[in-house]
This record gives sequence, C-alpha cells and structure tokens, in this order.
Amino acid sequence: MRDGGYAPLGAWVAAHVQRLHAPPVAVDHLVTCGNTNGLDLALRSLLNPGDVVLTEEYTYAATLQALRPMGAALLGVPSDEHGPLPAALRGMLEQRRAAGLPAVRVFYCVPVSGNPTGVSWSEERKAAMYSLACEFDFLLLEDDAYFYLQFNLNQLDPSSQPGLSGLGRSLLSYDTQGRVVRVDTFSKFLAPVRYATCPCVLWRRYARWRSDFAPTTNKNRAFVLDGSPRRQTSSSA
Ligand SMILES: Cc1ncc(COP(=O)(O)O)c(C=O)c1O
Repeated sequence: MRDGGYAPLGAWVAAHVQRLHAPPVAVDHLVTCGNTNGLDLALRSLLNPGDVVLTEEYTYAATLQALRPMGAALLGVPSDEHGPLPAALRGMLEQRRAAGLPAVRVFYCVPVSGNPTGVSWSEERKAAMYSLACEFDFLLLEDDAYFYLQFNLNQLDPSSQPGLSGLGRSLLSYDTQGRVVRVDTFSKFLAPVRYATCPCVLWRRYARWRSDFAPTTNKNRAFVLDGSPRRQTSSSA
C-alpha cells in the first residue's frame, strides 16, 4: 500500500485482499474513514459532471446522495432476486449506443445483501455484469459492506478462520482488465476499519482526494486486525 499511513495495517490489507480475492491485475489500497467515505472519494475521482452512472434500481441512499450533487446522470438497472438482469442491462446499453447517447462511466453496486433490497448476486450474474462492463467499457464500483456477513450454514468449517469460509466471489476477483474499484468495511461486525482496493493505474487519481476528505489513517483501530496487544498511540506510528 502506497498510503504512507500505518504500515502494518497496509501490509495486512494487501495480504488479506490477496488471500480472499486474488485480484488478477495489480492493485493498490487506500485506508478510508468508511465505505461511505471510500465511495465518495471514488466518485469524485472517477466522475465528471453529467457522467452516466448505473445503479441497481433500489440502492444505498447515501451513495445516491453523494452522486446527485456531482451532476451524475443516474440510470437504474432492473433486478430480480439473483441480482441485475443481464438482458435488461444489455438492452439499455445497446439502445444508448444506437441513439448516440453518452456511454456509461460507472456501475455502482452492492453485490452482497444489497441495501435496501437484501438481494445477493448469483455468481452467474456477477460474471455477466463483469462481461458487460468489458464489452461496454465501464467501471464497476463494488461496495461490499456486507461481504463478511454471508452465511452458508452447510459450508461452515470449524477448523478454518471463522467467517472466512464459504464466502462468494467478489467482482474484484473477476477483474482481468483493471476496471473494478472495491470498498471494504469492517464496521458492520468488528470495528470501524475500512479500506479501498483499486487497479494501480487508478491509485494516484483516487488518493488525490484523500488528504482533504479522509485525513485519518486509522492507526488507533489497526490493532484489531494486526493483532497488536494494545492500541497504537499517535506517536507510535
Ligand atoms: C451498502 C452500504 N455501503 C456502505 C455503508 C456504510 O459503510 P461504513 O460504515 O463503512 O461507512 C452501508 C451501511 O450503512 C451500506 O449499507
């Protein structure tokens, strides 16, 4: 992690992302103040006013609140209980292309337990969405706030690290072309520690906003993850 923040946390994040997602392209990381903050930073760095952004038809209200003042043109993708409908999205994209309308820039999505729908995408839908992103050249902004809260009671393995077995694949794990920016948070079940992962080529652009909007490097929280026996004080970083 090029963050320059608390190095043990950076090393932990890099190893953890590698282990869980094995991103096919080179990635970098950024410690954030929360997924909401990580999303806001991503949207600021990736969008220009008027850019077209896809979301699921019903999605996280705070992201919509961040997108509207940025002048983004929002388009809802119809979904069912398995996630966004590939044929419907393809139809929307082809229609826009045929009509000469501006191309989609980003698809903001919550693939696990969408807020407010509770819908988790099937693996088939994840693959289909990634393939449409490649074909129509847009980025995927993956907000996986509930990634660690996937419970498959048939696959729980008491000998493995609790909570890390049987998790579904992330969009990041499909990313052979460097078009996924992913935000992770532990705030839902462990502690307020959060980070983002993006292709190395996007990192400088992404991190540019950080000093203004996310000044903390979460040093005081890192002990939860790296196993330090006590809290880090601000002078021990
Ligand atoms: C989809 C989604 N993303 C992000 C967040 C917020 O995450 P954080 O507490 O890390 O800002 C929430 C929760 O409230 C959420 O439902």
